[in-house]
Amino acid sequence: MSDARQFVDFRIDDRVAVVKVDRPPVNALNRQVEDEIEGVFKELGTLNEIGAVIVTGGGAKAFIAGADIKMISEKSPKEAFEMSAATQRVLSKIEKFDRVVIAAVNGLALGGGCEVALACDIRVADESAIFGFPEVSLGLLPGAGGTQRLARLVGIGKAKELILTGDPIIADEAKRIGLVERIAPKGEAVAEATSLAKRVLLRGPIAVSNAKKAINEGTDMTFEDGLRRETELFAALFETHDMKEGVRAFLEKRKPDFVRR
Ligand code: CAA
Repeated sequence: MSDARQFVDFRIDDRVAVVKVDRPPVNALNRQVEDEIEGVFKELGTLNEIGAVIVTGGGAKAFIAGADIKMISEKSPKEAFEMSAATQRVLSKIEKFDRVVIAAVNGLALGGGCEVALACDIRVADESAIFGFPEVSLGLLPGAGGTQRLARLVGIGKAKELILTGDPIIADEAKRIGLVERIAPKGEAVAEATSLAKRVLLRGPIAVSNAKKAINEGTDMTFEDGLRRETELFAALFETHDMKEGVRAFLEKRKPDFVRR
């Protein structure tokens, strides 16, 4: 881990990395926080033993309560363009990370915070978590991928309802509309995300990575192109040791020993 990082760090526990964004009072995003998130994911990408990443917020109040509003107020349109593009780049790196990334939403996930959660593969919410896109209340719109990812996840109508009203929703409602996949008891979001991560860790790691890629890339393709991409990624698995091991283990009625190659 790097000593130079001030607001974002990670710990590794049995092949699961837990990345914590910790910038009191509400873990608001600024350039430095985003650079540190990017740096952490770069470092995690070099660690072969890691099979899953969990992203969470420091403290009990917030996951991430959005972009730092003090920083936003000083931007020119050109700087705002650069800010939006830079944050989108960082979140795309989370989305494309070649292992599963789970958001453990431990509290407020507002604006850019919700957008971080959307860039993760799966979202687990503390039962007390609040989700929302308050940007329009500030005369802004979600500029870190929210208009695109939310609509893809929950549908255009719900995305418009949430983004155009700016009204927050509680965790149960977020689960009902498909914005989160699981609810955890109070204080247990990371534990619940870890148990989910451990399920994925039992599976073939390259298969998991290729399946994630097929789903992600297919979302932006025509159906036919998506099917073709799925076929390519399916066939690529037949070059791997792990695919042969997985099938052999099934036939030999034993647990597979996957080695990520
Ligand atoms: N940026 C900077 N500071 C923030 C902040 C943010 N997003 N959210 C809260 N804070 C600060 C407050 O200014 C306050 O600081 P002081 O103690 O120095 O006054 C401190 O955090 C605590 O906030 P509150 O006193 O308001 O605490 P609360 O419990 O009553 O409310 C809150 C917490 C619900 C998060 C509320 O502060 C709030 O609504 N914050 C704004 C959230 C928001 O609008 N996020 C979207 C930002 S825009 C964006 O994210 C654009 C994008 O797409 C990238």
